[in-house]
Amino acid sequence: MAFLSKRCVNVFFLWQTIGCLALVVCSLSSCTNSAATPGTETYFPQVRVIVQQNCVSCHSPGGMGLPTMLTTDANIAALAAAIKAATIDPASPRNKRMPQGGELSAADKAIIQKWFDKGGKISD
Ligand code: HEC
Repeated sequence: MAFLSKRCVNVFFLWQTIGCLALVVCSLSSCTNSAATPGTETYFPQVRVIVQQNCVSCHSPGGMGLPTMLTTDANIAALAAAIKAATIDPASPRNKRMPQGGELSAADKAIIQKWFDKGGKISD
C-alpha cells in the first residue's frame, strides 16, 4: 500500500511537471510568434520597395506615368486603392495593368493586398 500511494504521488508530480513544461513552451512560442501574428505586421516598408523597383521609373518627374507620382511615402499611401487596382484587380480599359507592359510577382501582389486590406496607410 505504501508503495502504491508513493507511486501515485510520483505520477501526480510527473504530470504537474509536464503541465508546467507545456505552459513554459506555450508562452515562449507565443512570444517568438508575436511578430508574425496577423494584424501586427507592417507591410508598407515592403510595398515601398516594390514600388521603387517596379513603378518609380515611370511615375516620377519626367517619367511617362505622370501625373501619377509614386516617389514619396505620402504619394504611395494616398494612391493605395489605385495601386491595388492597377496591380491586382482585373485589367480593363478603365483599369490599366501596372507595371505597364508587365505584371508583379504573386508574392509582391500578396504584400500589396495585405497592406491594402490592413488600411493602406504608411503605418500599415
Ligand atoms: C513603363 C512605365 C510604367 C511603369 C513601370 C508603371 N507605370 Fe503606372 N502608368 C504608366 C502610364 C503611361 C500610365 C498612364 C496610363 C494611361 O492612362 O494609359 C500609368 C498610370 C498609372 C496609374 C493611374 C491609374 C490608371 O490605371 O491609369 C496608376 C495608379 C499606376 N500607373 C500605378 C503603377 C504602379 C503601382 C506601378 C508599379 C507596380 C506602375 N504604375 C508602373 C506607366 C508606367
